[in-house]
Amino acid sequence: MQKNQTAEIEWKDTGVPVATQFDDPYFSLDNGLDETRHVFLSGNDLPARFVSGFHVAELGFGTGLNMLATLMAWQSVGAPDGVRFTSFEAFPMVPDDIARALSAFPEARALADPFLAAWADGLRVFDLHGLTVEVIEGDARAQLATWSGQADAWYLDGFSPAKNPELWGDDLLAQVGARTAPGGTFATYTAAGFVRRALDAGGFDVERVSGYGRKRHMSRGILRA
Ligand SMILES: C[S@@+](CC[C@H](N)C(=O)[O-])C[C@H]1O[C@@H](n2cnc3c(N)ncnc32)[C@H](O)[C@@H]1O
Repeated sequence: MQKNQTAEIEWKDTGVPVATQFDDPYFSLDNGLDETRHVFLSGNDLPARFVSGFHVAELGFGTGLNMLATLMAWQSVGAPDGVRFTSFEAFPMVPDDIARALSAFPEARALADPFLAAWADGLRVFDLHGLTVEVIEGDARAQLATWSGQADAWYLDGFSPAKNPELWGDDLLAQVGARTAPGGTFATYTAAGFVRRALDAGGFDVERVSGYGRKRHMSRGILRA
C-alpha cells in the first residue's frame, strides 16, 4: 500500500460518500451523526468520562465526522483542558470531498472551518476549537506500531471487516490493546466474531450490545486490569 494514496469517492444520491477502493460507505446510510453518537460516544461512555488530558484515538479518520461529534460532546460537558483526538488514516480524502460529505450534517459542518482550512494547508496536527487533533497518515498497521501514545478511548472505525480486513487483524488489535491506558475502552459498530476474539486476545473484556439502525449488535469493551 502506498503512503498518502488519496481516497477515491463515489456518492450515493443521499450524499453519503462511498470509497471505491473498498466499495463501502464512510458512515451509516441512515444518519451518520446519530450512528457516531450511539456507537463511538455512548460505546465509550462519552462525554461522561472526559477529564483533562483525556485521549481519544481512532482507526480510520475518513471525513472527520467522528472527530466533530467528539468535539460537540466534549464542549457539552464544559470542554476540560488538554483533550486530544488522534486518528490513523491510510487514504486521506481531499478537502472538497470532506466538505461535501460534512454538508449533510449542518451541526458538525458549523464547527468544521478550522479543520477544513488546516486540512487544505496540508496540516495534520491542528487545534479545533481547543481540541488538539493529530491525523497520522499511512497504513495503521505500520503507524500504530511506532506510536508512543496511549488512548483512553478507541473508536475502531475501519470499513466492514469483510471488505477491509487489514484494519481488523489480530496483530493490529493487539497493538490497540497495548496502546490503551489503564481503564481504557474501545467501541466499534461491528460484532463480527473474529474481531471480538481478537480484541479479547488483545486484553479487553468485550461485550456485545445493541447496534445502531439496521445493525442488531455492536461491540464495546474495557481493558482488563
Ligand atoms: C468507515 S471509514 C471511517 C469513517 C470516519 N471515522 C469518519 O468519521 O468519517 C474507514 C476509514 O478507514 C481507512 N482505512 C482503511 N484501511 C486503512 C489502513 N490499513 N490504515 C489506516 N486507515 C485505513 C479508510 O481510508 C477510511 O477512511
